[in-house]
Amino acid sequence: MFNVKKLSIYVVVIAVSGFLFVWFGVFNVSASDKHWAITSSFLEWVRNRSISARAEDLTVPDLNDTVRIKRGAANYAAMCAQCHLAPGVDTSELHEGLNPQPPVLYKKADFAEKPAETFWVIKNGIKMTGMPAWGIYNSDEQIWDMIATIKAMGKMTPLQYQILVNSGQHTHKGGGHGETGSNRSGHQENMGNSEIGGHSHSQSSEHHASPTQHQDITEKPAGHHDDGHTH
Ligand code: HEC
Repeated sequence: MFNVKKLSIYVVVIAVSGFLFVWFGVFNVSASDKHWAITSSFLEWVRNRSISARAEDLTVPDLNDTVRIKRGAANYAAMCAQCHLAPGVDTSELHEGLNPQPPVLYKKADFAEKPAETFWVIKNGIKMTGMPAWGIYNSDEQIWDMIATIKAMGKMTPLQYQILVNSGQHTHKGGGHGETGSNRSGHQENMGNSEIGGHSHSQSSEHHASPTQHQDITEKPAGHHDDGHTH
């Protein structure tokens, strides 16, 4: 009986301490305040167990396929490099400011050693870290493409990376419709349209607008002249 009493006192003390800890704002939620080593290890453990429990048994495509590597580059540059960096992109405000700090994936020797887990993370994101769920707007193929790109990036110079990124964008705009449109339709075509189409539309409508305005102006004075003549 004594032990049960003692135990319930402990429980109450712990609960009250926990409440006071939160109530007085002892825990610093600031992203610039780093976690204790033990907290980081614990969170990492939780994350890793959660991911490996959920990563499906996927068929992993050939990640050394040069077509895939090339195809993923433009999307990686547009959506990931600002946090995960790239050859020639040595730092960024997002990379410095986020906690946990986004890892420099292309420098990790063990990147995509467990490709199914890497795929799962990119598709679903990680809660409360800043890592978004990319699966909402990207097809599975696009995600595999980016994994292939990141894997190959470790051996690239900044110049090689830039060339790949630029060449990737060209194939999206030009060939995206014809070749494998079903796989990579939505996102890249939208990007292409807004870049090419957006500009030309606004320019052409401006061009249309101004001549008609001029015509209106020139017609009215002519009308006034006519009026003047009849009067
Ligand atoms: C706004 C910043 C941000 C962007 C943009 C972002 N990520 Fe992340 N990502 C993170 C953070 C932060 C983590 C670390 C999460 C953690 O430690 O639990 C992460 C983790 C990851 C991981 C897991 C790394 C590991 O060590 O297991 C992968 C893979 C990844 N991101 C891929 C990508 C890809 C691919 C893109 C682009 C499509 C991308 N991320 C875009 C912030 C970002």
